[in-house]
Amino acid sequence: MAVHLTINGKEIETEDRKTILEAAQENGIYIPTLCYHSHLRPIGSCRLCIVDIEGSDVPKAACTTRVSEGMKVHTNSGRVRKMRQQAMELILMHHPLDCPICDKGGECQLQDLSYEFGIKEQPFHAKKPDFDIAPFCTPLIRQWPERCVVCLRCVSVCKEVVGNSAITLKGEGYDAVIYPSSPENCLSCGECLSVCPVGALTEALSPVRGRVWQIERTQTTCGQCGVGCQMEVSTYEDRPINVKTDDVTDDAPNFGSLCARGRFFYDYMIHESRVTQPRVRKGEEWASTDWEGAYEEAINRLRETLEKHGPESIGMIVSSRLPSEELARLYAFARQGLKTPHVDASHRLDLAPQIEILKALNGGGTGDPLNVLEKSDVVIVAGGNIDLNAQVVANRVRVARRDVRNKVIVVNPFKTPLDRTADISLTCNAGTETPVFYGLIKEALSENPDLQKAEGWEGLSSEVADYAAEAVCEAAQIDAKLFKKAVDLVKDKGSIAFVVGADLGRMPEGNGALRALANLALACRAAGKTVSWIPTTGYANAWGSLMAAAAIEGPKDGLTYGEMIQAIDTGKLKALIVVEEDPLSSLPGTSTVEAALKKLDFLMVVDLFETPTAKRAHLFLPSTSFMEKSGTFINMEGQVKRVTEVFPPMGDSRSAARIFEDIAAKMKLSVESGPNDSAALIEAFNERQETPVQGFFPVAYQPTRMEENSHLFLIPTDTLYNHHYGIDEPHAGAIRKLNKSPEYLMNPNDASRLGIEEGASVTLSANGAELTVTPVFSEDVKEGHLILIGHYHDTGVQRLFQFSLDKESKTPVMGLIRVNLKKD
Ligand code: FES
Repeated sequence: MAVHLTINGKEIETEDRKTILEAAQENGIYIPTLCYHSHLRPIGSCRLCIVDIEGSDVPKAACTTRVSEGMKVHTNSGRVRKMRQQAMELILMHHPLDCPICDKGGECQLQDLSYEFGIKEQPFHAKKPDFDIAPFCTPLIRQWPERCVVCLRCVSVCKEVVGNSAITLKGEGYDAVIYPSSPENCLSCGECLSVCPVGALTEALSPVRGRVWQIERTQTTCGQCGVGCQMEVSTYEDRPINVKTDDVTDDAPNFGSLCARGRFFYDYMIHESRVTQPRVRKGEEWASTDWEGAYEEAINRLRETLEKHGPESIGMIVSSRLPSEELARLYAFARQGLKTPHVDASHRLDLAPQIEILKALNGGGTGDPLNVLEKSDVVIVAGGNIDLNAQVVANRVRVARRDVRNKVIVVNPFKTPLDRTADISLTCNAGTETPVFYGLIKEALSENPDLQKAEGWEGLSSEVADYAAEAVCEAAQIDAKLFKKAVDLVKDKGSIAFVVGADLGRMPEGNGALRALANLALACRAAGKTVSWIPTTGYANAWGSLMAAAAIEGPKDGLTYGEMIQAIDTGKLKALIVVEEDPLSSLPGTSTVEAALKKLDFLMVVDLFETPTAKRAHLFLPSTSFMEKSGTFINMEGQVKRVTEVFPPMGDSRSAARIFEDIAAKMKLSVESGPNDSAALIEAFNERQETPVQGFFPVAYQPTRMEENSHLFLIPTDTLYNHHYGIDEPHAGAIRKLNKSPEYLMNPNDASRLGIEEGASVTLSANGAELTVTPVFSEDVKEGHLILIGHYHDTGVQRLFQFSLDKESKTPVMGLIRVNLKKD
């Protein structure tokens, strides 16, 4: 409702839900603040924003006081100026004036306020906290307790945005200190660091520091997952030294947030093990060469393959982390230059199975924007640990719930950090997601008259007929009361957003489970509800590669990523070009992939590091990271995000686009210019938009059963998709500091059933391969399950899997495996 008030005599109209501070800021009226942060609920701890309100005996904090009709506010009376001065003196009682040696010097809010208030000395001195500079939950952040002004921003952001409450306030009054109370919950995202207004929290990572006037800041898009987070990278002498979000506007998808990858893992790009010179294989050894020599080798080997076996004997696998400008050129090189249809990208590993769903929901467009979360009554999150794979999306889910009080339902076979803030956790047995989704359709929607009139309902209604609540709760081992609550929400609420992680599509019946979830979304829509679909993706430009695959002219419908490995094995493919992908680490069935790669006549790898795949290559060409080039990504919302060169290419490395342009020119291949950036790809893709498919997806559900000689379902949940972080030896300094081993979580009842002691190592076996691990006991894991939290590449867990692809989506199956467990 509109209200009218005056601030310093200025007449203002605003909404009754606003605070005096918000009304003042909207109207350009300055009120000093310290603890206030626009992304957090008002804290009201610093008292710097106090204002006089006519009729009130005492001044009130502008950040916590709502406006009201007829209110008369004075922001700068003598009384409030004096009280603010006293508040500042009390704040500084805790804070040494060590600005010359503080990392925050020159960009510290308290320093600016001290200057503004004309503070020349500290009249009061508090007792020093009885703990010294120390890691703050994570080795990536240092706490300087003496500098802390106890504004509580860090505590608020950890609780409200990250949902972790890893830090808290200890003690009272002047003895109060901020304390890492639950470091085991910390995700090392650095949100606390980012909101600290002083130098009480500093980054403990880069050995190089620079004052604001010595560094250069470049705004770019993070290339480490598909959210498209906007960030500012500080460089000192052409080296990245930190990543911030201070000047990122609120319309960016990350809304000021970053995850550990975006904020801390930047230095893999300047790691000493980067290969920056082309290499050619001479027998078992590598020999360095120059670009001319490398191009000559590439051209001779490609020509030889073309002449002997024809264009269809060459395959190309490219990374969906590359900017659209590069992807368009690579697809054009393969299709138009080499004339092979066999080019595919890493979107095949996560986003590809959801394309048919988006076609059915909206005719083939991208996912919905993240701000639909604030407009939805219910958010259903399914398909993995969103906090680890796309933490910023999980943050947005939490912030939306905080701000609009919507309801969050998590459906997953293991608990995730989001479960801590979710209203309903449907932690189901592995492989029972389809019964849960179908149970929701049957119990919440099947009586809806609009749905009953929908095309295809007859078929779907008979598919869901067996999924009454009791049967679902029995099969999925979920609490009947919780399921009933979820049913009531789906039935009663008008708008539902689906946040879908990539893990679901990688399960053995994953495509079926995704289709079952899509049927729930389609049924909600047919029942008259507003439905949104947000597919998370681990690749910065999964949409860019997907659109390039659709839009770039030339022979199409070739083999997919996984099918190319099978085709090498059968001798159909003789040469493979791999650009910033690592099939040997990314695919299940390591021995199958390894054996296939050995059969190749020619393997050319273009990458930053000598990956396990690159170690088997005949030719290695060094390429550049996303900070060494300019271009655009299409983020998971379908928006174009600019990538700006932050520092020049390392050594003699070259962008993949340049490499393939050079090779095409030297081979005199005819590569036409087609859509060659994100905007053009989107336009070309949209021209192919189809009418949304009517009806529902068929789902042939097969329960995932335990086999006789197996003990547990192992579910690997990959925390980091980027093989560039290092396989044997971490390339990112932050990962080295975190020094985290992969964790295998097991229910204590399984441990006692199998006679496993806490801390004892066990051998997992499946498909003739073995892996020795040390399980950690956790009540959060359902009986019968073993949850791996760790870098998929580092664990070697893919060795336990057989190489197999989903029949429909061709996604490699690596989401779940039955394992036998033996005590060591
Ligand atoms: Fe209002 Fe701190 S900004 S009390």
